[in-house]
Amino acid sequence: MNPTLTDSFGRNINYLRLSLTDRCDLRCFYCMSEHMVFLPKKDLLSLEELGSVADAFIARGVRKIRLTGGEPLVRKDFLTLVEHLSEHLNAGRLDEITLTTNATQLHRFAEPLKNLGVKRINISLDSLDPLAFNRITRGGNLTRVLEGIDAGIAAGLKLKINTVALKNDNAEDIPDMVAWAHERGMDMTLIEVMPMGDTGEDRFDQFIPLSEIRDNLERKWALHDTAETTGGPARYVQITETGGRLGFISPLSKNFCAGCNRVRVTCTGKLFMCLGHGAHVDLRQAIRVGGAEALDQALDRAMINKPEHHDFAIKKSGNTSGTTRHMSVTGG
Ligand code: 5AD
Ligand code: SF4
Repeated sequence: MNPTLTDSFGRNINYLRLSLTDRCDLRCFYCMSEHMVFLPKKDLLSLEELGSVADAFIARGVRKIRLTGGEPLVRKDFLTLVEHLSEHLNAGRLDEITLTTNATQLHRFAEPLKNLGVKRINISLDSLDPLAFNRITRGGNLTRVLEGIDAGIAAGLKLKINTVALKNDNAEDIPDMVAWAHERGMDMTLIEVMPMGDTGEDRFDQFIPLSEIRDNLERKWALHDTAETTGGPARYVQITETGGRLGFISPLSKNFCAGCNRVRVTCTGKLFMCLGHGAHVDLRQAIRVGGAEALDQALDRAMINKPEHHDFAIKKSGNTSGTTRHMSVTGG
């Protein structure tokens, strides 16, 4: 049997985030520029090729796959890939298929996803105020998203809300959002803005450390740290009054790379070993020219090159250290 995927720092990689598209029907101002140039469609891996990438990782011990984007639900016929992954799930080769979505299309897909074995979904939502939502997403319609969330709950999916903390746009409303999510039985995770790609906006004006948000929440509620992790960067608290769980992803103010268990593949087949580094291995070339064996060897090359940690930093205006790649390219 093939060995599992272990990097040069001894970290076992058992979690793949697979991006289906860099496109999205929203334009969140911290994620994309207003007139975003997308990857040429001809460079995209087909859904079959994305399935082969997943197969290669599963054969090397990956147990969890998250479909990302851009917005994964805007990729035409994406359910055929979920059907393929679902076979691995049914055969016991995979523990979980999940996805991260902005929920604009979830009203159409909640039921079929549930039927294919998806149990949990992460929803990216940064405001419950229709005007602020429209401003942050540069044109999005909150009502559609809330319908998607209702459809998810009705289908029996476990939903988690991911919210990027934005100094001037939602920081003050976060306690109300937490209360709203917990009332509906949804966990929530807060995320610090990361300097990824040019969005035409100043990162310094967006960034607020989650420590400030936490201080604010602690004036209202009792937050109890818990020891649980998902091998990812989030740290969780339990809130006594709401009875719900709240995660904090603070890549700028805290670094949890030592326990990293994941890699990301873009919709064009670039395997990025770290969200914060440019180093990657081209799986498209491997699949198209060398087939399954070349793909497998590419995974070994990637393990040798996985960096120890990211070097994100947001300092005074204009002085940021991050990536030129947008999150929508690498997959969130
Ligand atoms: N910093 C932090 N989070 C980001 N996301 C997109 N771009 C950024 C960024 N620059 C988030 C989205 C979504 C997830 C996929 O990534 O809000 O929750
Ligand atoms: Fe789309 Fe998500 Fe980026 Fe917003 S954050 S533009 S929903 S990919």
